[in-house]
Amino acid sequence: MMGSKETEPRRYLVPIDTASTQQLFTDCLVIGTGIAGLRATIQAAQNCGVTLVCKGSLADSNTWNAQGGIASVLADDDSFADHIADTLATGCGICDREVVELVVKQGPCLIRQLTDWGTEFDMAGDQIDITVEGGHSHARIAHAQGDSTGRVIAEALMRKVKQKPNINVIENFFVIDIITDENECVGAIGCNRAGEFQVIWAASTILATGGAGRLYRETTNPEAATADGIAIAYRAGAVVRDMEFMQFHPTTLYIAGASRALITETLRGEGAMLLDSENNRFMTDYHKAAELAPRDVVSRAILDRMLKTGSTHVYLDIRHFDKKHFARRFPVISELCESFDIDVSKELIPVRPSAHYMIGGVKTDSEGATSIRNLYACGEVASTGLHGANRLGSNSLLEGLVFGKIAGKLASGHPKAGANHLKHRRIRCDIALSDRSRLDADDVRNSLRALMWRNVGITRKAQPLAEAQEIIDFWQRYVMDKVFDSAYGWECQNMLTVCLLMAQAAEKRVESRGVHYREDFPETDDKNFANHIELTRSLQA
Ligand code: SIN
Repeated sequence: MMGSKETEPRRYLVPIDTASTQQLFTDCLVIGTGIAGLRATIQAAQNCGVTLVCKGSLADSNTWNAQGGIASVLADDDSFADHIADTLATGCGICDREVVELVVKQGPCLIRQLTDWGTEFDMAGDQIDITVEGGHSHARIAHAQGDSTGRVIAEALMRKVKQKPNINVIENFFVIDIITDENECVGAIGCNRAGEFQVIWAASTILATGGAGRLYRETTNPEAATADGIAIAYRAGAVVRDMEFMQFHPTTLYIAGASRALITETLRGEGAMLLDSENNRFMTDYHKAAELAPRDVVSRAILDRMLKTGSTHVYLDIRHFDKKHFARRFPVISELCESFDIDVSKELIPVRPSAHYMIGGVKTDSEGATSIRNLYACGEVASTGLHGANRLGSNSLLEGLVFGKIAGKLASGHPKAGANHLKHRRIRCDIALSDRSRLDADDVRNSLRALMWRNVGITRKAQPLAEAQEIIDFWQRYVMDKVFDSAYGWECQNMLTVCLLMAQAAEKRVESRGVHYREDFPETDDKNFANHIELTRSLQA
């Protein structure tokens, strides 16, 4: 565990006096509307009232954008043992085996339940159609409307949420901090659509706030993915871990001026090849699985080819695909390419890697409980131990589904008395306001994202990691003491907090493992590092 007083954020980002703030009371508060938050909400609502909040609209999540699919054992020639073995092998020695077994074994049943709830997966005859991604020894990726899997699942879960009278959905509610009283979470303070502060008292709280891709200049993630949940939990004293493990996706559309967009790995699973700018297929030189090598291997190989050819990107070649089948099977990518006048039957798709999935996060046990009482975490914000040092493609929607259900069940199990017992609590925290008129949060955010891409990116080494910490520390000195009044500023503070944790953890892991590659220490060091790096806020700060 580490944490230093100088660089620690203060406990709350805004002054709080619960007695003079608008108040809501709920049995269970769920923060975030990706697959994990929605599934947790549905589960918790079987036992108690739920308030589900998200900072944008219900659809602003990584889940909504997930293309490839959801992994599970669905074929007769596949087995739990093989899915478990693939997950453990990809995780490079630090997966939690108990969690891997739990998630893999619940997969088929929870996917069947999704279909019962109206998710229409693509079918091959009367079976769910499955495809393959890197690291999977069998086809086991279920998909829906081709490359719209996340959206189709989320829509089905949202319909279910809307049918339940005991679920109160509040969109455009930015949770600034969870409120704790002696290591017990008693709810959260946030800012509603009208710009008013509100306290939501809750007998239990589930963080399902999603990922952190927006901490990097290049990312597949939507704007919402600013790592708020990790920062919120860290400020409250929760243990966070594996912060050095950011997974980069090898193939993001790279067109200068266009926003980056994911080009699903299932395209490579179905035969797309990677070519460098000199038209050479290169992955065969780097790994025996070629284009289906683990994502970290493909990402580094692409960087290497970009460097060797002096190019800003490489290409995906699908000219050999049947054009009509492609448009049917990958409608989102087909439309995307068309919108940039790329005729995929004749032309190559320019791609390069970008930040995709945050493996680390708020540490939970196998029931989704964090180190703070009555605070649970599930989905990308959580570190359950499923992924180890590298995530197997399409295991994350599965994890969100399984841990959403588990966390929802546990969190709704104890608030029999609802939040009534919290009615007489008062939490106060005074913070002196400091002048922020000269501060350009936009500039800080952009500079931070560029710094992370350069210094804490696909390959790392000691000096740039140390430099990143010094620079973030300097920016923190004049950003973290400010009190903002909008999500944009709070997000900036959250981003600074989490970026520093990532750089610190990456510096501490003096070896290469999974998605964490140290140029100065390219070998895996099982003797010293077959474990997790945990970080927790220094309580004096
Ligand atoms: C993809 O479709 O390539 C992304 C799937 C994932 O990251 O799990």
